[in-house]
Amino acid sequence: MATYRIAAIPADGIGLEVIPEGIRVLEVLQKCTGNFRMTFETFPWGSDYYHAHGRMMPEDGLDTLKAFDAIYFGAVGHPSVPDHISLWGLRLPICQGFDQYANVRPARILPGVRSPLKDRGPGDLDWVIVRENTEGEYAGVGGRAHQAHAEEVGMEVAVFTRAGVFRIMRFAFELARKRPRRMLTLVTKSNAHRHWMVLWDEIFAAVATDYPDVSTDRMLVDAATTRMVLRPETLDVLVATNLHADILSDLAAALSGSLGMGATANLNPEGKYPSMFEPIHGSAFDIMGKGIANPIGTFWSAVLMLEHLGEKEAAGMLMKAIETVTARGESMPADLGGRATTREVTDAVCASLKKP
Ligand code: IPM
Ligand code: MG
Repeated sequence: MATYRIAAIPADGIGLEVIPEGIRVLEVLQKCTGNFRMTFETFPWGSDYYHAHGRMMPEDGLDTLKAFDAIYFGAVGHPSVPDHISLWGLRLPICQGFDQYANVRPARILPGVRSPLKDRGPGDLDWVIVRENTEGEYAGVGGRAHQAHAEEVGMEVAVFTRAGVFRIMRFAFELARKRPRRMLTLVTKSNAHRHWMVLWDEIFAAVATDYPDVSTDRMLVDAATTRMVLRPETLDVLVATNLHADILSDLAAALSGSLGMGATANLNPEGKYPSMFEPIHGSAFDIMGKGIANPIGTFWSAVLMLEHLGEKEAAGMLMKAIETVTARGESMPADLGGRATTREVTDAVCASLKKP
């Protein structure tokens, strides 16, 4: 029987509430299928760790994580630690250190979930956003000069490499090819950004010639937002830069019902390093400690983790259990208009796994 070692990093805010519930669901799931075993080790890294140790994770954190088959991540961010410190101390070093260059963000209106889009329901919005995850606007290249003087300058340089753009394009085309509609939309801003974004256009066009079965089109990122709202059914897979896709994926999650639904896979597709799976909602300090966080994005991220590990049947079972719960509508969390607590939503998903 396949056995997987999972590193859990709940980290901050509601991450501490949703990750244990995700583990609970995965424990029930493995009993139901009997196909695989999963063991979890939880690491107390994050902002509390920072206050105690002066860093978000230990210096050899990546060495520790490297031995695991996957990472299940909660959220990072605390009002008492500047966001750029918490982010660059934990989540980004993992994404970049483990070369998790393909960030995959599915968005779909699940049965029973109301989209803020009028008269839109399941079937009208079914997207996967592919986000370049190791370079671009998040390359971390830049600096500040003349600090604290009137002449101060701050520079953040977006870095795009041919190799980096090429591999994300290939990944996006392969993914689009596996979906029924086989459509891929390139999102850029190549009218204004005539260097790096034109490089994206060129590499996209070159890679497209290897995929004649995938239909393609191109959108500028500003226009893409209106198409997502007004004609969601015309989009399938989107590929975009680190920052553009960050923004579009929040919009996608909200349009699919709530930010609480958003799930992510940070993939190192070659499997040289562990990949990382996390909900996209962030630490959400406004609702922390209330027990009302929506755990569905965390469960959906577990579906992505199972798919990545090759446990397709278990992934399908978990997704079906989530959809059964949303379709019934009795255990909806607050952000979906219900009154169920995080624990109650989890209980409902576990019950649905046991008795589909
Ligand atoms: C995301 C988040 C992060 C990002 C934050 C926490 C920096 O918004 O995963 O989408 O921008 O990458
Ligand atoms: Mg984001």
